[in-house]
Amino acid sequence: MVYSFISIKKFSDEPYSKILGYPKATNRQIRSRINELEKLKIKSISLIGPTTLGNLAILGKGYVGVVVLAKKGSKQVALKIRRTDSQRNEMKNEATLLKLVNTVNVGPKMFVASKNFLVMEYLEGIKIIEWVNLLEGKGSAKKLKSTIRKILEDCYRLDQIGFDHGELSNISKHVIIGKTKSTLIDFESSSTKRRPSNVTSVTQAIFIGSGIAKKTQKIYKNPSKEKIIKILKQYKQEKTRESFEKLLKILKL
Ligand SMILES: Nc1ncnc2c1ncn2[C@@H]1O[C@H](COP(=O)(O)OP(=O)(O)OP(=O)(O)O)[C@@H](O)[C@H]1O
Ligand SMILES: [Mg+2]
Repeated sequence: MVYSFISIKKFSDEPYSKILGYPKATNRQIRSRINELEKLKIKSISLIGPTTLGNLAILGKGYVGVVVLAKKGSKQVALKIRRTDSQRNEMKNEATLLKLVNTVNVGPKMFVASKNFLVMEYLEGIKIIEWVNLLEGKGSAKKLKSTIRKILEDCYRLDQIGFDHGELSNISKHVIIGKTKSTLIDFESSSTKRRPSNVTSVTQAIFIGSGIAKKTQKIYKNPSKEKIIKILKQYKQEKTRESFEKLLKILKL
C-alpha cells in the first residue's frame, strides 16, 4: 500500500516528538534520538496503524516500545522505539535475540539496531485474536488449521534451538497474521537459559485457554483437554520430531 511519510526532521517538535520520546523526553533527548535515526538511515515515518498515541496513529505500543512504520532508504520497515520509561536500558539485547530466531526463520527479519531503536521487517496483518474472530463459515477450518500448524512449527524450531520466547502463553499479542504468512513477534523477554516451552505454551493458549480456544472449538471439534495435556506431557519429556508429529496428529493439524 502507499502511505504518506513524514520526514524525521519534523519529529523534533510536538506533536510528533511524543512518538520518539514517549511518554516524556527533553528536547535534547529528542534531538539525540533524531541523530541516532539518521545514523540508522531512517528518513521518514508514516503515521498509520490500529493504535493511537495521543491523536497519532501507530502500529503498536507496549511497555518497552512504540512501534511505527518507517522508511529506511526506500524500504518500508517497522521501527521499535524504546520508551523513555522502559525497564530495558537499550534495544541491543532484543536485537541479538531477534537475530538468533531469524536463523531458524522465525520472527520479523531484524535489520539494524541501536541503543534506542530496533529496525525490523514490517509485518502487514492483524493480531491472531482479531483474525480468529473474522473466521467464519465454510472453508475456515482448513485455513485455521494451516495457520495454527505454521505457528506451532515455528515454536518447534525455537524449542529445538533451546530458545524460549517467554510470553507465548499470552498468544493474542504475539502473533501477527498476514495475507501470506503468520509471524511470532516481540522477543524481548526471551531467553536461551530457560527450558523452552514454546510449543506447549502455544498449544495451551490456542486449545485450552479461554478466548481463542472457545472460537477454534466452534470452527472444528478439538480433542479433549485431557488428551491434549497428556500428549503435551510426553512432548515436554522428549522434544523430538516424532513426539511433535504425534501432537499435531492429536490436534488434527
Ligand atoms: N514488525 C512489526 N510489524 C508490524 N507491527 C509490529 C511489528 N512489531 C510490533 N508490532 C506492533 O507493535 C506492538 C508492540 O510491539 P511489541 O510487542 O514488540 O512491544 P513491547 O513494548 O515489547 O510490548 P509488551 O509490553 O507487550 O512486551 C505489537 O503488538 C504489534 O501490534
Ligand atoms: Mg515485549
